Amino acid sequence: MPSHLLKPVVSQSLPAVARGKGSFVWDTEGRRYLDGSSGAVVVSLGHGHPDVLRTLRDQAEQITYAVRSQFTNEPAERLADRLAALAPADLDMVFLVNSGSEAVETALKIALQHWSELGLPEKRWVISRHGSYHGTTLGALSLSGHPVRRRHFEGLLHDFPAVPQPNRYRCAANASCPPCDLSCADAFDTAIEAAGASRVAAVVVEPVVGATGGAVVAAPGYYQRLRQICDRHDVLLIADEVMTGVGRCGHFLAMQHWDTVPDLVAMGKGLGAGYVPLAAVLARRSVIAAIERGSGTLITGHTYSANPLAAAVGLTVLDVTVRDGLIERSRQVGPVLGAELGDLLESHPIVGDVRGLGMLWGLELVADRASGRPLPRERAITERFLAVCQANGLLLYPASDGFCDAALVAPPLNTTDDELRQLMQLLDTSLRALEAELA
Ligand SMILES: Cc1ncc(COP(=O)(O)O)c(C=O)c1O
Repeated sequence: MPSHLLKPVVSQSLPAVARGKGSFVWDTEGRRYLDGSSGAVVVSLGHGHPDVLRTLRDQAEQITYAVRSQFTNEPAERLADRLAALAPADLDMVFLVNSGSEAVETALKIALQHWSELGLPEKRWVISRHGSYHGTTLGALSLSGHPVRRRHFEGLLHDFPAVPQPNRYRCAANASCPPCDLSCADAFDTAIEAAGASRVAAVVVEPVVGATGGAVVAAPGYYQRLRQICDRHDVLLIADEVMTGVGRCGHFLAMQHWDTVPDLVAMGKGLGAGYVPLAAVLARRSVIAAIERGSGTLITGHTYSANPLAAAVGLTVLDVTVRDGLIERSRQVGPVLGAELGDLLESHPIVGDVRGLGMLWGLELVADRASGRPLPRERAITERFLAVCQANGLLLYPASDGFCDAALVAPPLNTTDDELRQLMQLLDTSLRALEAELA
């Protein structure tokens, strides 16, 4: 019988997932897959974690929904306290939403309202980067430098300025990179001056670029420079940590690697960890103070914002993450993953570059490593590679941006060493199979 459920590729038939446990999932045919990128970099505690399942049941027996204008609720209050305690500096005001896109939209709206309440309503523009993804809603998509995801919606999207991605493998800011001279960071300075600082509300960045190119990490000093630029121009810095936050990159926030405190942070994915839709915006006190002293009302929110069931799960996810030392584990496993992926690069000419931080790594596939010449896009190599991996029992997440081919390697933070070894073996086998197919 034909399916009524719309899939990403409408006519594609997909295996049906049946169950998951730890780092593995099984389909209804009984095939087992190693979840090599935690779904869409989400399932940081693995599948079926007993502590989270207990929380789901316990909280469901108490209350699963209340309207946030009528009641606050204890799980949401405690989750906000916990997020504030884990985040650096005064990033301690929290707004809860349901998806990464909503978190980015909310951060954007808080930034605009902040300036409007200060009597600067003309500060409206947001500067982002080419080669970025911030979400699927029209505001978040307007910030996204992802040609494929934008294509059908151009015209309705805001035409915000964008600067090059800080990509040392294919630098668009400086022909002699590497070494990086941070001209990619200085591009923000130029873009703000071109737009006029009095019209720029914020800059938005993914601390490690995720879905658009595959775990692209900026050079040391980039984010410190960006912070200085934002401060000089009185522009808010929004870190989109939807993919990188909650320990994925080896700190609670990836921005902590560079001792950089953003003004607003969007989080998602690993916060609900695949158990509930949950995302959050963290704001510095000063950002919210302008609104509190002005109209006093935050003009944003959703029916399910601060949902008690989702919040209770988020709290348990954070508790387990901290209790089991998973942020430190991500920091320690990072270099090991990097070295092992580096070995794959040595033995597979199709791998052009590997890069990443903590337990978020990207693997770029190319026609020629030295020049970085991409494979012809019409050959859909990323899609082909992921299909080969899946046939071999390994799930990876795509990070192709319509120009280059890339995939993300981001297993659950509690993946065992043995499972990591299996992951590398499956990657090796799959790359060999792909190369044989292309030859
Ligand atoms: C950095 C980043 N921001 C925002 C989003 C959008 O999140 P969601 O798909 O939960 O709306 C994503 C999703 O991949 C992301 O990677």
